Amino acid sequence: MTIANSTKPHTQPTILTGLRVNSEMTLGNFLGALLPMVRLANAHSDQYHVNIFVPDLHSIISEIDGNLQQNLLKSLKYFLAAGLNLNPNIHFYRQSRVPAHSELCWILNCVATMGELNRMTQYKDKSEGKDSVNVGIFDYPVLMAADILLYDAEFVPVGEDQFQHLELARRLAQRFNHRFGDLFTLPAEPKDQAKFMNVDHGIRIRDLQNPEKKMSKSTASANSKIMLSDDPKAAAKKIMSATTDSLGKIQYDMFNQPGISNLLQIEALVNDQPLQDVISTWAGETHYGDLKQKVAASVSTFLDDFQRKLATISDAEILDLLTTGETYANAIANRKLAAVQTAFGLR
Ligand code: TYM
Repeated sequence: MTIANSTKPHTQPTILTGLRVNSEMTLGNFLGALLPMVRLANAHSDQYHVNIFVPDLHSIISEIDGNLQQNLLKSLKYFLAAGLNLNPNIHFYRQSRVPAHSELCWILNCVATMGELNRMTQYKDKSEGKDSVNVGIFDYPVLMAADILLYDAEFVPVGEDQFQHLELARRLAQRFNHRFGDLFTLPAEPKDQAKFMNVDHGIRIRDLQNPEKKMSKSTASANSKIMLSDDPKAAAKKIMSATTDSLGKIQYDMFNQPGISNLLQIEALVNDQPLQDVISTWAGETHYGDLKQKVAASVSTFLDDFQRKLATISDAEILDLLTTGETYANAIANRKLAAVQTAFGLR
């Protein structure tokens, strides 16, 4: 692969995403970020570099369930099990194996302000009620900005909960470019990211028992979340027991009917159907049980197929992909880092 000799080293633009591997992933992670990435990669990897990386340095800000190395390999297998078609434009790497991420994070720390990091909702949530919070949790969005800006990534498929961090990456890039010239490509605005992902708005899969909240790995109740390792029949039962409402209308209204809207959203994403089509199919229907049965069947068929494919992918295949991907990532990232260091007078 030829890499042009300039601070904008890509001959092709980049789509990039990362998923933390602190534990097993939920259907929310899958539908919000992983599956959109797979669909974008399959549609565009002839024109875009597609960077899929494991933010393992982001993982160590909090507890890790299980073995980080095994979680990491499994998370990359998920992309293949979800149908990612491999080709030389797709790059797998580990954040910690590309030291330029940490280096750029430090430089961006000198451009970001305490005030803007204090406003990050995830930081507020993660630190609420704690006597002591590690600096990594506070600084996490700056490392995420480094992950994105090092590769001039234009599109970053993430769930809606990460949009505030994306905005921060844009702001830091703008501030940096204003001061030092046009070094970083700005990632697209969240609304354009959603358009590129072919969705009306950012994706936020809701907690099945408490649909005001997002589905999260850290929620204690097993019925609130579907894990990718769930037995497909058990997952179907969780959908059947999802909290809805008493309005008796099947319509998409996240404000008044978050439970029903969540089921419509899951149905659309799992079957790769436009949300509007699913909404139209159910318009005028009133039996929530019918909708639940349909979504339960879709989710259990999906999990069954996904888990079957997952079992066929070996660690060796992923390790091979990481070896090639990390050579590529280090070449791109080091070149960008050198340009930034030069701008700051460090070289
Ligand atoms: P993380 O590991 O918390 O979540 C991984 C991805 O899953 C999405 N997600 C959801 N989407 C829809 N509905 C939900 N209920 C739901 N729960 C989680 C998240 O939005 C995310 O896209 N900071 C990131 C990881 C990261 C990253 C990056 C991502 C580090 N550097 C650079 C993109 C680019 C994180 O902690 O996501």
